[in-house]
Amino acid sequence: MSELGLPVPGPRRPVWFNEVMQESRFAAEPWSATTRFRPVACVGGVPLMDIVERFGTPAYVVDEADVRGRCRAFRTALPGADILYAAKAFLCRAMATWVRQEGLGLDVCSGGELAIARSVGFPADRIVFHGNAKTPHELAEAVEYGVGRIVVDNLAEVVRLAMLVPPGHRQKVLVRVIPDIEAGAHAAIRTGGEGQKFGLSIASGDAAAAVARVLRQPELELVGLHCHLGSQIRSLEPYEQAARIMVEQLAAIRDAYGIALPQLDLGGGQGIAYLEGEHGLTPDEYATTVTKAIEERCATLHLPVPRLTIEPGRSISGPAGLTLYRVIAVKRTIDRTHDRTFVAVDGGMSDNPRPSLYGARYAARLIGRRSAMADRPATLVGHHCEAGDVIAENVPLPADIRPGDVIAVPATGAYHYSMASTYNLTGRPPVIAVAEGAARMVVRREEIDDLLRRDVGL
Ligand SMILES: Cc1ncc(COP(=O)(O)O)c(C=O)c1O
Repeated sequence: MSELGLPVPGPRRPVWFNEVMQESRFAAEPWSATTRFRPVACVGGVPLMDIVERFGTPAYVVDEADVRGRCRAFRTALPGADILYAAKAFLCRAMATWVRQEGLGLDVCSGGELAIARSVGFPADRIVFHGNAKTPHELAEAVEYGVGRIVVDNLAEVVRLAMLVPPGHRQKVLVRVIPDIEAGAHAAIRTGGEGQKFGLSIASGDAAAAVARVLRQPELELVGLHCHLGSQIRSLEPYEQAARIMVEQLAAIRDAYGIALPQLDLGGGQGIAYLEGEHGLTPDEYATTVTKAIEERCATLHLPVPRLTIEPGRSISGPAGLTLYRVIAVKRTIDRTHDRTFVAVDGGMSDNPRPSLYGARYAARLIGRRSAMADRPATLVGHHCEAGDVIAENVPLPADIRPGDVIAVPATGAYHYSMASTYNLTGRPPVIAVAEGAARMVVRREEIDDLLRRDVGL
């Protein structure tokens, strides 16, 4: 029985796959594909209030069917490409396993992400290792595990990497270049332009120098070029432009050295809906635009079409996640211009730093009871000692919202758990996976004892 004494709907399979694949749900909804609000709020066939009772709040919930559906949608849209899930968006052993089972590769950018991949036996040849400042230790671990490709992101690492390759082996590498395209929802997540730390500049000559340096190392095999424009990109034009520029760079290498590199990696960045009515990019529209741009430019430049790699992160895990919070306090303030209602919950910037980092906006919804009162705008805030600890501005919540209520915030599956902190010595929330009517904890809550254990004292 549900929290309202109503029968709980059973698992929604096997229709979930078609539901995830529906364009409208895929890109225009912040809630995961199996989310239902009637008769009670459920995800993956599990009433959210059951999760609150079993695992407490705050808690991250991840919808396995939604993740799998999004992996499949990318594979279906680009059958001839390598689809790598960008681990930085959200990684735990369960997620790495789902991605592996769905046949995707993995983009990792640290020794820690590689360790998770290794721990679930992620096939090394499906891993691409990134980083603008990989430590020698990380490079050694990547080579030792035999990762499929390493993305060269600075001149110093070329020789450093070559020296780590065991005799008789060759390490495949991509060179990351800056296509000089500005795209992405916030300056901090725009990585395709000059004047930021990622990639090698075409304009300064560093990109060409890196290519030359890699080609001089017999231990390295240059297989292609890479770029990543930024994150939360909701228009196709920057991708079209990047595809053209990158093909031109491949042609320049062909002209200089007589080699047609076989691969092109265009990174990730596909945007999602955070609010009702917002639109992200669908794998289909992305695939059509990018494929056409690459093929046309290759035809013009008489270049063989390279094998495409893409690295979606947010668009695979973002909409699959939501966060559950308990309301601790409600207060009103009146400043010179307006009357504000603050709804303070038991989480905040430690589990969701995106509003304070990027001015990100979120939806929120009362679950666990129905209110007869009309909605009014509220500011959902956290419990941290920082005035900027806001989760969602101007969200409609019932006028009688009160301590003890439970609130669900959607689209928190990417860059939440992975960016969480222990600010104010708050333990990080657990991750609860839901699928086919069952919930299970895949990452446990971080307790104060975990935090105390690291502090060795005087
Ligand atoms: C190199 C690279 N690839 C892929 C991604 C994933 O981006 P997104 O999660 O926006 O798809 C990132 C994100 O920062 C990145 O740096």
